[in-house]
Amino acid sequence: MAEEFEPKLIAFTCNWCSYAGADLAGVSRMQYPPNVRVIRLMCSGRVDPIFILEALKRADGVLVTGCHIGDCHYVSGNLHAEVRVKLVKKALEMVGLEPERLKLEWISASEGEKFARVIKEMVDQLKKLGKNPLRDG
Ligand code: FES
Repeated sequence: MAEEFEPKLIAFTCNWCSYAGADLAGVSRMQYPPNVRVIRLMCSGRVDPIFILEALKRADGVLVTGCHIGDCHYVSGNLHAEVRVKLVKKALEMVGLEPERLKLEWISASEGEKFARVIKEMVDQLKKLGKNPLRDG
């Protein structure tokens, strides 16, 4: 029997909200797929499009997470992240890659359950999409 495809997911999390949400999911022993590698940044606004493209060379999908609008500890970092993610999604479409491989979600420090759910949903989505043709190895 063929093994089920296990996608690799890279999640950028901001230190103040979504990383704390991921931590809460962990300490609360909430179940989510082990396919994700979390990269902590101080703010989602630090996510440069190059980071996303580099991540897509190593994974099947990329998740960018940050504080809810109005809650960014650097005032407007998440607004910058939103613009960048939209631009990169358009660029992915232009090169023939499914834009669903990139997702943006706002997750607060108290939303451990949401973090776990978003990871599960994205891993399920990536299983349907299959291996990222740009991924090395
Ligand atoms: Fe969380 Fe800016 S500090 S998005």
